[in-house]
Amino acid sequence: MSERPIRLLFEASRPGRRCTTYRGADRARAIEGLPAREVREHPPQLPENGELDIVRHFTRLSRRNYAITTSFYPLGSCTMKYNPVVNEVLAAENPWTGLHPFQDPGEIQGALAVMARLQDDLAEATGLPGVTLHPAAGAQGELTALMVLRAWLDSRGETERRTILIPDSAHGTNPASCTLAGFKVVTVKSDDRGLCDLEALASLLDATTAGLMITNPNTLGLFEEGIEDICRMVHEAGGRVYMDGANFNAIAGITRPGDFGIDMMHLNLHKTFSTPHGGGGPGAGPVCVADDLAPFLPGPRVAEGEDGFLLEDPPQSVGRLRGWHGNFLVLLRAYAFIRRLGGPGLRRMAEAAVLNANYLRVKCNSSWRVPFDRICMHEFVARPTKAMKEKGIRTLDVAKRLIDLGYHPPTIYFPLVVAEAIMVEPTETESKETLDAFADAMNQVAEEALRGDPILHAAPVTTPVGRVDEARAVKDPNLCFRCS
Ligand SMILES: Cc1ncc(COP(=O)(O)O)c(C=O)c1O
Repeated sequence: MSERPIRLLFEASRPGRRCTTYRGADRARAIEGLPAREVREHPPQLPENGELDIVRHFTRLSRRNYAITTSFYPLGSCTMKYNPVVNEVLAAENPWTGLHPFQDPGEIQGALAVMARLQDDLAEATGLPGVTLHPAAGAQGELTALMVLRAWLDSRGETERRTILIPDSAHGTNPASCTLAGFKVVTVKSDDRGLCDLEALASLLDATTAGLMITNPNTLGLFEEGIEDICRMVHEAGGRVYMDGANFNAIAGITRPGDFGIDMMHLNLHKTFSTPHGGGGPGAGPVCVADDLAPFLPGPRVAEGEDGFLLEDPPQSVGRLRGWHGNFLVLLRAYAFIRRLGGPGLRRMAEAAVLNANYLRVKCNSSWRVPFDRICMHEFVARPTKAMKEKGIRTLDVAKRLIDLGYHPPTIYFPLVVAEAIMVEPTETESKETLDAFADAMNQVAEEALRGDPILHAAPVTTPVGRVDEARAVKDPNLCFRCS
């Protein structure tokens, strides 16, 4: 190999420093083990800027971000609430961030105690005693629970039970998780009140039924009023009931799924129990299960022994689903949040989330069509009226116009059971003033839509980039720096 000088990238990026060049023995040491094609021949052409320019650049960029700390984020199904800064401070403290997951349990008793107590709190809140903190997201929690269900069925020799029934108002991750776990999905239709149709359910239950996966409150923001009957019917058919508990924000402290017949559920800690989760993470989707399913949970789990907290594998565990012990700092925030609020505080949280959603629903339902216009839970679904559609206005136009008025758009075109859906979730942390201002914005957009105002097709006009071809952006992303 020729004697090419090695220049270190990080050296070059230090202000006032040129690349460090290694020669001879130093060079040989520096490139040892590197494939020849990775060895740099010329110094990298890095921009050199003063600190102030860099700070200004990133501050300017940060101002273009939309965040819960700047404005309202009514993103249905995502529970974009404000998360107390005190939890962030706690999660940033060195006693936690300095831990390593390979440390001996004897050295991390504090962290294990947090996890054990969080397991206890989640078991108490859900009424389901077996808890795993492993899953890193709601969807991974769904997969975990379905693997547990499969292992439980196999342990009983019920290998013919491979069908999972899912109402058509379920969250999109539910059927995807079923398929991943090797189950067949059969859809149960909703009735004209937006709830799981009990007759349709009865007609689908048979000896192949492994279980039902139900989102409750469902994605229309409605509580499944027939849930006790639903659970009884599935149990009588020999199946188990999984509840997608990502919307637990609406019922925490008021009712417990284990008490109304649910066998397994996941919680989205990053929605209900405090953790900022815009932009895709990090999250935690613990799974809580009934006693007889607990032996199948992933391991290791934290348990309390005579000499303190320890890690142990449940006897018939499906194995490990995630590295280490889950997203520990998300678990820590959730524990702090639950301890600060306590049971009565969680109830107040849920009541305020429901009150805020209903307040907004009623403020919007004279100018927008609300297909299921009755008391909702933490969110409601609206859509443009017939008159707006006749003016050529679509839900996408409404969402883009709301950006101009200073709001993050609500979730749109979901749930699928409502055409042109606009799904609004205010959460419990918004004030009446904010809700009033948002309702005014919604009503202003409704007026613009009714007069067929062209601004709706041009929006957003206040952002650095206007309307993009979103389908193309996904399929043909242009990710190069300063592309022409
Ligand atoms: C009802 C429901 N189920 C499941 C999920 C999936 O959760 P995650 O995005 O953490 O995978 C979400 C996400 O918001 C949800 O709203």
